[in-house]
Amino acid sequence: MEKGFKGSRVEGLKGLRDQGLTALLPDRIQTNLHTARIGKKIHYFREIDSTNSYACKLAREGAAEGEIVIADGQTQGKGRLGRSWVSPPYLNLYLSAILRPKLAPTQAPQLTLMSAVALAETVRSFILDTPEIKWPNDILVRGKKLAGILTEASCEGDRTLFVVVGMGVNLNFPLETMPAAIRETATSIMSLSEKPVDRESFARRLIHNLDQCYGDLEESGFPSIARRWESFFHLRGKQVRVEGLDGSVSGKALGIDADGALLLEDEQGFSKRVIAGDVIPLE
Ligand code: BTN
Repeated sequence: MEKGFKGSRVEGLKGLRDQGLTALLPDRIQTNLHTARIGKKIHYFREIDSTNSYACKLAREGAAEGEIVIADGQTQGKGRLGRSWVSPPYLNLYLSAILRPKLAPTQAPQLTLMSAVALAETVRSFILDTPEIKWPNDILVRGKKLAGILTEASCEGDRTLFVVVGMGVNLNFPLETMPAAIRETATSIMSLSEKPVDRESFARRLIHNLDQCYGDLEESGFPSIARRWESFFHLRGKQVRVEGLDGSVSGKALGIDADGALLLEDEQGFSKRVIAGDVIPLE
């Protein structure tokens, strides 16, 4: 364990318990966690700027595949497309995993979709509703965003040196305490199931599922992951607009291709490939 609870560990934990909160301690997550690669080493922080930034730093310094960074709060949580990720302490899950896949940089998006499958399958086991994946990797429930994934990769020529998969999941985040900017569009497990979720169990199951999905991707290839991903994709056949950093493109959503890009069909019936952006349903 690093940093968190140094000095005032007991006092810190007691203070948290008095408020009905608990810390996500690595030893407890690792109890009954049986994985091949992911989560054998967990770096824990009570508070950090961003678990993704720290995981990238660790990976650059040679951290092993499967090492995880978890924080109970982030001061500069990063979202996709340069956005920030609201990361209040002790309520949610902020987790980044270091992967060293044998994939070419062009195939690295497969990891984003693989992680979305692991996350959606984990969420499905905690609530009655079926989650939906909004391409590429937003997890929505009842049309509201529950979780997001930010993947960051480092490549050299045609080699992927490492990929950091960062997941933010709203677990016990009360809707009324969400900032106004996200209150209408976000949700949390607690607000969906009307009871708090055990963050430790959620983290353990997510790490387990990520380890399994990563193994499946390696052993069976992307098509089997793509089929599982598409079972959570509800926009097939629907008109959508995709807003990217360089403008927007519209069309009928057809699904994903062999690298995880979104396929759209335009009005003339031509197919277009989109590799990044925000999908906005138009119907
Ligand atoms: C999104 O915009 O949907 C992606 C959000 C990803 C947030 C997670 S929280 C853990 C990890 N650390 C970060 O700074 N970002 C990711």
